[in-house]
Amino acid sequence: MNRTPLIAGNWKMNLDHLQAIATVQKLAWTLKDARHDHDDVEVAVFPPFTDLRSVQTLISADKLPIRFGAQDLSQYDSGAHTGDVSGAFLAALDAQYVIVGHSERRTMHGETDEVVAAKTAAAVKHGLVPVVCVGETGEQREERGAGVVAVEQLQVVLDAVQPAEIVVAYEPVWAIGSGQAATADQAQEECAAIRRGIAAAWGEEAAAATRVLYGGSVKSGNIAGFLREPDVDGALVGGASLDVQEFAAIARFRQHVGL
Ligand code: 13P
Repeated sequence: MNRTPLIAGNWKMNLDHLQAIATVQKLAWTLKDARHDHDDVEVAVFPPFTDLRSVQTLISADKLPIRFGAQDLSQYDSGAHTGDVSGAFLAALDAQYVIVGHSERRTMHGETDEVVAAKTAAAVKHGLVPVVCVGETGEQREERGAGVVAVEQLQVVLDAVQPAEIVVAYEPVWAIGSGQAATADQAQEECAAIRRGIAAAWGEEAAAATRVLYGGSVKSGNIAGFLREPDVDGALVGGASLDVQEFAAIARFRQHVGL
């Protein structure tokens, strides 16, 4: 199964809509100058909600080959949910993706596995591809070992949602923003366990088709090691996605190593 690698930039709560326009423009030019083949390695950005309309307008007006999504969505379609954003609204903006269950939402907004499952179902319902984030804390890894918590978190989603196109991002909490990335071996081990979980719940075909990303302190200097692994299909990049040159270099990972 040939899975197109996905390099995804999660901007988190950074860059307002004016900065977003400049950043996406610069990213597109940088990749164009480097003759980046977007069919070979897909590039997507995940700006804050207030930037999405500007990013959409720029991408569609200039026909840029960059894809985009939101960082969260509501599990509900509409109604009395102050501050929340419906998947229907994101679909109306032509967003292709939406991140669900990022560890920062799980810890700061109390999102449970069940909420993450409901949000995943809402994304699928509205034609968005959910990027489902899973991963263990350092403590959980010590107590329960590798490959357990992430698979358990994903299991709740897989049980609640009919097979559909999703992306899974394995993001160990201890590696996020810490500068201490997982090793390529660790990422491979977890991503392979996640793929086995998908095979058990949704079947081999779905498992072979689903892209599993690694996230946590990804940089241009370590990306090639992750992408050499058979079960790592891309990266969810935080801090390094705010630096256009660095993010473009991550998307150009094949060039660094002749992959
Ligand atoms: P960093 O790349 O800054 O570690 O963040 C990873 C992340 O949380 C992406 O969603």
